[in-house]
This record gives sequence, C-alpha cells and structure tokens, in this order.
Amino acid sequence: MPINNKNIHPIHDSLLNKEEKEAQLNQKAITIWMTGLSGSGKSTIAKHLERSLSNNGFITKVLDGDNVRIGICNNLDFSTQDRIENIRRISEISKLFIDGGIITINSFISPTIEIRKMAKDIIGPESFFEIFVDADLETCEKRDVKGLYAKARKGEIKDFTGISAPFEKPINADLVLDTNNLTVSQSVEKIITAIKNKITY
Ligand code: ADX
Repeated sequence: MPINNKNIHPIHDSLLNKEEKEAQLNQKAITIWMTGLSGSGKSTIAKHLERSLSNNGFITKVLDGDNVRIGICNNLDFSTQDRIENIRRISEISKLFIDGGIITINSFISPTIEIRKMAKDIIGPESFFEIFVDADLETCEKRDVKGLYAKARKGEIKDFTGISAPFEKPINADLVLDTNNLTVSQSVEKIITAIKNKITY
C-alpha cells in the first residue's frame, strides 16, 4: 500500500505530454506485454522484435524479467506478493517510457490474470497490447535453457512457475503465439502485423 502521500504534489500540466513526445518521435507509444512460462520464448522474441522495429525507425525499450530483477527489483523474490510488486514497478516504469513516446517491449512471466490486469490498469488499457507466448510446460521444460526446471523438479528452487507456482493462461490476449510451432521470425512478423497501426503516427 502507498504510504501517506498527502504532501506530494506531482506536476503534470507544465510537462510535455505523451502526444507531444509522440509527434516529436513520429510514432505512437504502447507497451507490448508478453506473458508466458519461463523458456516460452518471450525474451528471444523481444530481442528480435526490438531489432526489427528499430530497423524500421521505431524507438523502443526492452524490459525483461531477468534484467529488472538484478536492478530495480533486486529485493524481490517469487512469492505472490513480490511478483505483484515486481509487475507493479515495471508497469509504472513502462508508463514513464510511453509517456515519453517510447514503445516498450516487456517480457515478464506475469503469471496471473490479476497481475496482468493490474499492469493494464496502471499502463492504461488503450496503451496495453497483451501477447500470450504460448509454449507448453513440456516444451519449456525440454528446452530448459537456464537449467531452472531441472532445479525446480529437484526442489532446489521454490515457487517455480509451472512446477510449484501457478501460471494462469490469459483468456483475452490481443495475440497468441504458439511458440511450440512458430519460429522466432514468424512470431516477430505476427506481432508487427498486429501492432503496426497502433504504433504508426
Ligand atoms: S514474474 O513472475 O514476477 O513476472 P519475472 O518475469 O520477473 O517473473 O522473472 C522470471 C525469470 O526469473 C525466469 O525467466 C527465470 O529465469 C527466473 N526465475 C528464478 N526463479 C524463478 C521462479 N521461482 N519462478 C519463475 N521464474 C524464476
């Protein structure tokens, strides 16, 4: 819960607003929010999506679970409460970026419907594009790029999403990518087709 903030007076009206920033950068800013299990392909897609958007002149920022958790969220674990705080902070940061006209590409497990709803509420529904990066647990576990599933199965990591902590599939995602079957470039293509109108000035 926020602490008493009655003596805090944010300035808004004297700052350049989102529309002015967007005009300057010649793009519309949204948050492209990818949710899915660890190993489903979120970070890889984010990296390639950023490259592709950048090649087409768009200004972006990738925000990624592993990176954020060694910096601004380094005091948080994987309890339900700390995952909520992780996503709350990242949503506020995303909002700052898009207020500055910059497109954010977010890859966070963001495992529950409630957590993603909070992100959408903070960022603003009109600026939030939700993508379910949908790979089966079996596929993610087989890939096990970071070796975390093996550790989780042995009980060496607690609260591991998909093993000992829940993952609730989104029911109304704006886009679903079946990364069991799609290549990275096919996923990137699908995203660009879906968001092009939303980011073009
Ligand atoms: S979230 O649930 O709070 O959205 P986030 O996306 O920031 O998670 O971090 C997920 C990354 O942290 C995973 O890709 C994985 O590398 C690492 N990780 C470490 N421990 C866990 C855990 N218990 N559950 C899930 N991911 C974990």
